[in-house]
Order: sequence, then C-alpha cells, then structure tokens
Amino acid sequence: MTKIAVWCRHKNDNVIGIGPKIPWHIPSDFKRFRRLTEGKTLIAGQTTYESFPNRTLPNRKIIVLTFNPDYELSDKQNHAVVTDIKAFKEAEGDFYISGGASVYKAFMTGGEGLMPDVIVDSMYCGELNPELTGKKVDITPCIDIMMKDYRQISQNYERDNVITTVWIRKNTFVDQAVLKHILLAIEAED
Ligand SMILES: NC(=O)c1ccc[n+]([C@@H]2O[C@H](COP(=O)([O-])OP(=O)(O)OC[C@H]3O[C@@H](n4cnc5c(N)ncnc54)[C@H](OP(=O)(O)O)[C@@H]3O)[C@@H](O)[C@H]2O)c1
Repeated sequence: MTKIAVWCRHKNDNVIGIGPKIPWHIPSDFKRFRRLTEGKTLIAGQTTYESFPNRTLPNRKIIVLTFNPDYELSDKQNHAVVTDIKAFKEAEGDFYISGGASVYKAFMTGGEGLMPDVIVDSMYCGELNPELTGKKVDITPCIDIMMKDYRQISQNYERDNVITTVWIRKNTFVDQAVLKHILLAIEAED
C-alpha cells in the first residue's frame, strides 16, 4: 500500500486555494494531475470534492473524507464516504491524497500508517488570481514536515511556471512500480 500526496502550492506562501477555488489556471498542471490519478483512487476532503465539476472526476474512484456519515455522493458506484481517517491505516491499495489543506495536514501529522510515503510537490511561481477575494488556504505546516522528514528523489521538472519535484519519506521503502508511474506521468508530454 502506498500513499501519495499530490498538491500544487504557491511559491513562498504555500497557498493552495482562495475560498473554495485554486487561484491559478495552468492547463498543464491539471493534465499532470489527471495523468497521475487516472484509474487510481483519490482521497479528497468534502470541500475539495464539492469543488470538482459536478462533484466528480472521470475515470477515478474518489473517497470523500467528511465527519458526516450521511453525506450525499454524486456517484454512489465510484465514490465512497469515510468518516474516520484511521480507516486508511489498514486499507489495502494505493491512495492519491488530493487535498485540501485540512486533509493534507491530517495525513502529514497522522504518524505511522497515515503519513504519505510519496509527495508530488508542485510549486507555482506566478501571480495569484487577483479577482478571488476569499480566505487564503495554505499548507505551510505540511511543507515544514516535508522539508524535515522527506527527501527529494527527482530532478526539478519545470513547465509553465510550475516546478514539480518528487519526495519520499525518509527510511521508507516505496514500491518501484508506483514511483515509475509517477515519474512517467510527470515527464509525459501534454
Ligand atoms: N492547489 C491544490 O493542489 C489544491 C488541491 C486540493 C484542494 N485545494 C484547495 O484547498 C481548499 C480546500 O481546503 P480545506 O482545508 O478548506 O478543505 P478540504 O480539506 O477539502 O475539506 C475539509 C472537509 O473535509 C472533511 N475532513 C477534513 N479532515 C477530516 C478528518 N480527519 N476526518 C473526517 N473528515 C475530515 C470535513 O468535512 P465535513 O465538514 O463535511 O465534516 C472538512 O470540513 C480549496 O481552496 C481548494 O481549491 C487546492
């Protein structure tokens, strides 16, 4: 079982959202995310799930983290609700942790069995969308943990003002097939 956290954060301030929205629009970043996660199982917080178009993403299983056991899913066949994050300690399979901030933080600070084995860290170096006025959501505590407990194992991949790197948790064995999939997804042409 491998847990992979995937995010795109803003350089320096680690902002990943303003209100419910991502404050930049980089098509190649969405495409990289799609290549990474197509055919895979995602974990998304309820707020992030609500922000997906029609509350879904094609060709993916989505597990929605919410404290509400009666949460209504958009696709009962391919989506599921989990109310206790500890369920992932024992779960079989690979999971792509897809945010938002509270979910990244819950896994990154969750200790053994919850901390992601791999992080795909994308960093957007441009300007934030000035039209968005909601609350800024950042993942600085997660980046602090990444810098301390993880090591970068890839080169810097730069595309459209976004720098992507791959990190693995120190002293952790990572399935080579998973790493190969991640690197191929990052390196592929759009
Ligand atoms: N740039 C990126 O890579 C990226 C990726 C994803 C999201 N985002 C952005 O991140 C922002 C959303 O982040 P957020 O932190 O506000 O919301 P979020 O993490 O997406 O969702 C928060 C909700 O998830 C549920 N939840 C969180 N931790 C839980 C736990 N341990 N157990 C059970 N349920 C749990 C709760 O749902 P209930 O209230 O229903 O109980 C909580 O209200 C948006 O701006 C979004 O666009 C950015």
